Amino acid sequence: MVVLVLGIESTCDETSFALVKDGSTILSNVISSQSDMHACYGGVVPELASRSHVEALYPLLNQALQEAQVSLDQVDLIAVANGPGLVGALLVGMNFARGLSYTTGIPLVGVNHIEAHLFAAVMSSNKEIVFPALGAVLSGGHTSLVLVRSIGDYQLIAETVDDAIGECFDKVASMIGLPYPGGPAIERLAASGNPSRFSLKAGRVKDKPLYFSFSGLKTNALYIAKGQNSDKHAPLVIQEEDKKDLAASFQHVALNDVIDKIVRAAALHGCQSILVGGGVSNNQALRHGLSERAPCPVFWPSRGLTMDNAAMIAGLGGVSYQKNPRNEVLSIQTHTRIPF
Ligand code: KG4
Ligand code: ZN
Repeated sequence: MVVLVLGIESTCDETSFALVKDGSTILSNVISSQSDMHACYGGVVPELASRSHVEALYPLLNQALQEAQVSLDQVDLIAVANGPGLVGALLVGMNFARGLSYTTGIPLVGVNHIEAHLFAAVMSSNKEIVFPALGAVLSGGHTSLVLVRSIGDYQLIAETVDDAIGECFDKVASMIGLPYPGGPAIERLAASGNPSRFSLKAGRVKDKPLYFSFSGLKTNALYIAKGQNSDKHAPLVIQEEDKKDLAASFQHVALNDVIDKIVRAAALHGCQSILVGGGVSNNQALRHGLSERAPCPVFWPSRGLTMDNAAMIAGLGGVSYQKNPRNEVLSIQTHTRIPF
């Protein structure tokens, strides 16, 4: 029986370590975000991300152990996110995990970061989740709808053909001079804006009614902010007081598209629950809108488990090891892209 799992996350611009006991009791979940460092570039710079992970790993491990009041020799399993993500960032975290596993003899398993985002909603609930469930991964890198037959048994239903939803929030925010990450900034500004002021449309994908396309919506927003047929380097033409209406109109259309497709996919596949994961699940307008329209109970990650974090990696790693005990210390590979 795996009791205490050490989770490690370094797929993008957060370094995180967590200690999770008995599958869902989080003893510590320390997260060091690099977003301030990347903010002036308007997005994550991969090389800077890798270097920053190298510096953060060891002190954060100690902090996580200290906060959990445990020592390394009490840990039964190490779980590391081995994809998808930035190759350099993944290699830093994975090699650190391998070294730790090799020197301590604690078994190591690799965990899919995207599956872990969905597992965050499972970990956060004290109610039993009835399967099949519809999983919606809404993050900076992914927008996917997945049929979850059980934990570990997934089937992709739909995904984005261009930008991810979080990425689209980030790009629209950057267009109107808001800081990175743009999602929280757009949500704040939208709160005082008029969502029907500007007419915007989410994209449709030919013959794939549940798939997503956000690049047209992003271009619509660009033309409102900078003028028809302008490019992203053009100066702003939108007045300061109109930015809140653009934020509200954009958010309304983007979230409605997501909610609509989640509701339709859940009904189509006879889902008994909906699991939502990824940074965009922080958005309160999404939470209210989906909870109102969902045909079945919706499970959300709790605070601290929405964005990238190691607790979700530890939680899923524990379940995966329980089903299939193994040590991947010599065989683990990074996967920059994993389907769904
Ligand atoms: O899951 P996450 O931490 O990283 C990835 O795996 O991508 O998600 C980060 C994304 C960013 O694009 C960020 O702008 C978005 O989540 N995000 C939000 C909100 N909070 C974070 N998007 C909309 N509304 C929010 N409140
Ligand atoms: Zn993520």
